[in-house]
Amino acid sequence: MNIKIAPSILSADFARLGEQVQDALEAGADYIHIDIMDGHFVPNMTVGPLIVEAVKPFTVAAGATLDVHLMIKNPERLIPAFADAGADILIVHVETCDHLHRTVQQIKELGVKAGVTLNPATPLNTLEEILPYVHQVLVMTVNPGFGGQSYISTSTDKISRLHHMLAARGLSHVEVEVDGGIKPSNAAEVVQAGATVLVVGSAIFNDQASVANNIAAFRKAVRDV
Ligand code: DX5
Ligand code: ZN
Repeated sequence: MNIKIAPSILSADFARLGEQVQDALEAGADYIHIDIMDGHFVPNMTVGPLIVEAVKPFTVAAGATLDVHLMIKNPERLIPAFADAGADILIVHVETCDHLHRTVQQIKELGVKAGVTLNPATPLNTLEEILPYVHQVLVMTVNPGFGGQSYISTSTDKISRLHHMLAARGLSHVEVEVDGGIKPSNAAEVVQAGATVLVVGSAIFNDQASVANNIAAFRKAVRDV
């Protein structure tokens, strides 16, 4: 199966961000995942459109996808700025959108692929009506806000139920992305359940091994699934 690896720059060294992104892309990263946090929806703050714009030339040169995860309240206000900055996919949380269908249309009208996501305690049925309109569904496998947290084990069943929900609706082309606590040790489990895109922060950008070796460990872990 063709599994995509999406390094999350949340765990990168921001003082040498370009170099770290380049390392990931040279090692064959399919996406670069950028976590946008506003200090309101999640208890942390990160970066804005400026960093998306700075990373964009690297993903363009590598033919990779710039995947932007909006953990912000009222995302519709900033969606145009993130589209202008070069996001290829914009992911919004169902918990932040009073009018999810409208927000998804807004993203698509700006020429960007739409993704939707939900927190660990948010039921999958909140997405049921939006599935035909999206390119990707992101299943949060930790509570959003921080890198380096542990995978919530009941997420595997949730991924599997989403996979079946998509298949039953003839929507198997929709990418199933997972985010949070993904390691080489649980990568095969989430892929078996139906994940097609693995977001990985701390298991790619760390002091234990090079970015290239860490990405290789993920490729090896999912090779035979
Ligand atoms: C969490 C973010 C994740 C995070 C994943 O709110 O959405 O993308 O960076 O980090 P790890 O892989 O360290 O759990
Ligand atoms: Zn994320």
